[in-house]
Amino acid sequence: MREPARYPGGSGPKALDAGCGCSAHFVTTVLHQFAESLGFAIDAKDQTTRRHSDEVARVSQELALELGLSVSQAGIIHVAGHLHDIGKIGVPDAVLGKRGVLTPCEWQAIRRHPQAGADILRPVLSLNNLGVVDMVLHHHERYDGAGYPYGLKGVAIPLGARIIALADSLSAMLQDRPYRKSRSFDRAHDEIIRCSGAQFDPRVVEAFRSAAPRLEPLVGCEAGSLAA
Ligand SMILES: [Fe+2]
Ligand SMILES: [Fe+2]
Repeated sequence: MREPARYPGGSGPKALDAGCGCSAHFVTTVLHQFAESLGFAIDAKDQTTRRHSDEVARVSQELALELGLSVSQAGIIHVAGHLHDIGKIGVPDAVLGKRGVLTPCEWQAIRRHPQAGADILRPVLSLNNLGVVDMVLHHHERYDGAGYPYGLKGVAIPLGARIIALADSLSAMLQDRPYRKSRSFDRAHDEIIRCSGAQFDPRVVEAFRSAAPRLEPLVGCEAGSLAA
């Protein structure tokens, strides 16, 4: 399914203008390397994840292309994928790795990570102008408005964040977590389709359905970078 090519971050059309000072080359080299490095750092902190940020970056980029976004826009979403969980640096290790049920206080610590991530990244003007900060801030919003931190609904959620939300869930379902075992790709696929219109944007789910055969090799493997 094709969606008109437009700014994926949600704050306005400024991101891909020459005026933002960010060339496609800059996004796919310096900015990407920086984002990938920070993504590896946050994955190293969370012992329960395995290259999760990298998987989210790869899947998000493919979904963006499937939706008809430009290569440049897909590259920006790839960068945001690497950085989406950077706010977890402020979540105690004991909470991230807890096997039992989280207390309300621990849940609060987890639910603060999108805002914490946006706050960490906002001083990087390029990430702000490209919409990456907004994508990180809103990657746990749900299409039906039941997500966090702001309970945004539908297309009020930046498109890049709607894409990352699906990629994030796919990668998470395919990995073991302290509180549950991993699912197969086919079971994760069915769960994502079941959640279309509730947790996920139906257009992004349709793109996922179409792109599934080429997404499966991107998750749970050590493939090379797609953006650089
Ligand atoms: Fe997250
Ligand atoms: Fe990458």
